[in-house]
Amino acid sequence: MVDLKYIGHSAVEIKTKDTSILVDPYVSVNPNYDYTKIEKLSDIFLTHGHGDHLGEAIEIAKKKKATITAVFELAKYCEEQKCKTRDVGLGSWINYEWGRAVFLPAFHSSSLPDGGYAGCAASILFDVEGVRIYHAGDTCLNSEMKIVKELYRPNIALLPIGGTYTMDVEHAAVAAQWIGAQTVIPIHYGTFPSIQADLQKFAQLVQIQNTNCCILNPDEIKQ
Ligand code: NI
Ligand code: MN
Repeated sequence: MVDLKYIGHSAVEIKTKDTSILVDPYVSVNPNYDYTKIEKLSDIFLTHGHGDHLGEAIEIAKKKKATITAVFELAKYCEEQKCKTRDVGLGSWINYEWGRAVFLPAFHSSSLPDGGYAGCAASILFDVEGVRIYHAGDTCLNSEMKIVKELYRPNIALLPIGGTYTMDVEHAAVAAQWIGAQTVIPIHYGTFPSIQADLQKFAQLVQIQNTNCCILNPDEIKQ
């Protein structure tokens, strides 16, 4: 059984039978979230290098002895910060003890905290105990999402809806259709004034397509 906890912004914790993994751990966005309480944290995934996604990854990886998986340039940066890393590119399954993941195209920029080149931005698809979870990262609507449906048929899709830097609610609703997941969870909204979103409108647009829209409050868990 897989538990998906929404930490806030784009940060999620996926808890499997034996371990937990974190995606885009900008955990400081949620003062109630305490990563030190995670029993076993094996892996941290980064969609790209921007501060609201890299978040506290370096600190968490060191304290919890977790491995950071990221696109080559970003992984090298994390390695220079003395973290254990796995560097990857887009396009192939990467195997883990708890399952596997594949980095997929996202249309967005990516840079290191010092402004340096962080490689390309990614969406990440996880295959965990038979559940396929697609984390879009930061991206605009793009036709690669149709391929995601064709190749992977995710069960759950986490989609940014806040606009300005990513899809807005209207484009994210189209993305939901293209990706074809049974359940869609909105992320990347409300954190800053520039990414406010009409959640009810998003839920309506998604539900018209017979897709379940699951709006999670910070700390809420989707099983
Ligand atoms: Ni970004
Ligand atoms: Mn972002």
